[in-house]
Amino acid sequence: MAVERTLSIIKPDAVAKNVIGKIYQRFEDAGLKIIAARMMHLSRNEAEGFYAVHRERPFFKDLVDFMISGPVMVQALEGEGAILKNRDLMGATDPKKAAPGTIRADFAASIDANAVHGSDAAETAAVEIAYFFPALNVYSR
Ligand code: PPS
Repeated sequence: MAVERTLSIIKPDAVAKNVIGKIYQRFEDAGLKIIAARMMHLSRNEAEGFYAVHRERPFFKDLVDFMISGPVMVQALEGEGAILKNRDLMGATDPKKAAPGTIRADFAASIDANAVHGSDAAETAAVEIAYFFPALNVYSR
């Protein structure tokens, strides 16, 4: 399987619950390396830019309001099949539908406060990593 990179965000609800370490442990146990990380409090502009593809969706304002409600932990993960592996660790978008043992099943309260974000494909991963870590390609594999 190819080594990939993906973007992960631990959202304000999970940061407030003090479970960054528990979520990092899941990444590491699954063989994903944290190759860059930033704790940030996103501005409205930064959150709107990040979620620009969802601009027309009815929940866009709620999503942006939530993402700027407190600090987030943003990381780039690297490993074999990292994009799908991270999505599997996260579980379904709606925590009520997330499989037991996934991050969202264990730490998320609702579809709008759902603990984590993860890139959904190679193209979006590249764009999302560049959005937060424009200098990441200076670190060699
Ligand atoms: S996904 O994960 O991209 O396949 O899911 P999708 O359904 O396309 O949702 C895109 C992002 O919007 C968030 N979302 C919502 N936020 C607030 N309210 C409602 N109702 C809602 N539904 C979906 C969802 O968590 C996705 O955010 P990210 O950060 O990409 O996980």
